[in-house]
Amino acid sequence: MRSRFMTGTAPMTLSVAPRKQLLDTRLEVSGGQRLAGELRVSGAKNSALVLMAACLLTRDTLRLRNVPPLTDITAMGEILAALGVRVTRSGDTIDLDGESITRAAPPYELVNSLRASFFCIGPLLARMGTAQVPLPGGCQIGSRPVVEHVKGLKALGAQVTIEHGVVTASVPGRGHRLTGGHIHLDCPSVGATETLMMAAALADGETIIDNAALEPEVIDLAGLLTAMGARVQGAGTPTITIDGVQELHAADYAVIPDRIEAGTFLLAAAITRSSLTVGPVIPEHLGAVLTKLEEAGCLLHQDGTDLHISASEIRALDLRTMPFPGFPTDLQAPFMSLLATANGTSLVVENIFENRLQHVAELQRMGASIRMQGNTACIEGVARLSGAPVHGTDLRASAAMVLAGLAAEGVTTVRGLEFLDRGYAHLEDKLNAVGARIRRLGDPA
Ligand code: EPZ
Repeated sequence: MRSRFMTGTAPMTLSVAPRKQLLDTRLEVSGGQRLAGELRVSGAKNSALVLMAACLLTRDTLRLRNVPPLTDITAMGEILAALGVRVTRSGDTIDLDGESITRAAPPYELVNSLRASFFCIGPLLARMGTAQVPLPGGCQIGSRPVVEHVKGLKALGAQVTIEHGVVTASVPGRGHRLTGGHIHLDCPSVGATETLMMAAALADGETIIDNAALEPEVIDLAGLLTAMGARVQGAGTPTITIDGVQELHAADYAVIPDRIEAGTFLLAAAITRSSLTVGPVIPEHLGAVLTKLEEAGCLLHQDGTDLHISASEIRALDLRTMPFPGFPTDLQAPFMSLLATANGTSLVVENIFENRLQHVAELQRMGASIRMQGNTACIEGVARLSGAPVHGTDLRASAAMVLAGLAAEGVTTVRGLEFLDRGYAHLEDKLNAVGARIRRLGDPA
């Protein structure tokens, strides 16, 4: 099966392998190579996805640059196209023409494959006065509720019901326009903050979002909305204020670099005890991670938008995941692979998602010494991991397996690439370009 986007030029085809073949596809990582050279960081998946959804807020065309070539981006493009958006891609630039949106209900099967598509409920409701979006449901890492999204939309005057797995929202009254309101989030949810920022951008009056998420992707969304003519204050602080406007216009905007991909590359240098240059990196986006890398004994040096890292001995440490600016949950698994090879005993506490320690069993298969208690893992560093067949159970767990394979003795076979490809663009090619030995194998049978 191949998926198509409507494009301004010849229809562009992205090769997405059929599901069955995907399951048999694996990476073969030959460990023990030192890495050297430069790794380029793509645009941020978790920003690009929500920026794409923002195209629903305007009749004009939105141009996004530095968009990563990921299967999640393909899926979001298909969801927007199903709503009537004309999606045109050329290299890492996407044009999103939302002039004629034909429906306010994205198809279930498409939403089901991409949680972030639920964030479309905000801009759809603001633009169309109604929206029917399937509940995204849980995933490998947790139940992923959307209570805060729904609560916030109600605070902006929407009537919301959840039946048969679909969230139906509508704005009563003439003009079906949302009304600004005061929202206090019970937890600083990234998705809820973004959904409500987009909804409030076209609402009548002022909206205040308290206990908002502080993540760089939230600030990037505020940057785009402002470029489209919205009035957003306070992004990056716990209180965001949005003065709604009548309409938003075209914009040409570049997505920020992917801090999680950058962190994964820095960990590739650390786990192989190598020196690498990684860029572009915005240090403030990775504060807690850089602090932990230095605590582990890595030497870091920022040079413009590039970060040089060199590693020899790795010391054990404790880390606990927290909302930004705390340590990001998305780098917990990759960092644990490093700590499995450190000198001494480390503690890792996962505070954000209730089921995000499944990589522990796979690391143990590679000889890691890890004991678990609830959301805490106690890691006794070992001199050497050993290559084994392992399975990544979610996006970041798959990346953690690749990193562990780089350091392990012998060959590690990593499955679960349907997750990896959602968030890392051509990971094996990039790592091979700096000295890794990784092959992607597919069993056509
Ligand atoms: C975003 O997910 C990212 N995804 C995730 O990245 C990331 O792990 C997460 O933020 C935290 O940083 C995208 O941006 C597409 P949340 P999101 O709402 O918005 C609870 C990756 O690997 N919560 O901030 O879905 C929730 O259960 C992915 O790239 C509620 O209780 O995360 C969780 O425990 C994985 N009620 C916590 O908040 C709600 O209504 C954080 O979730 C919403 C969330």
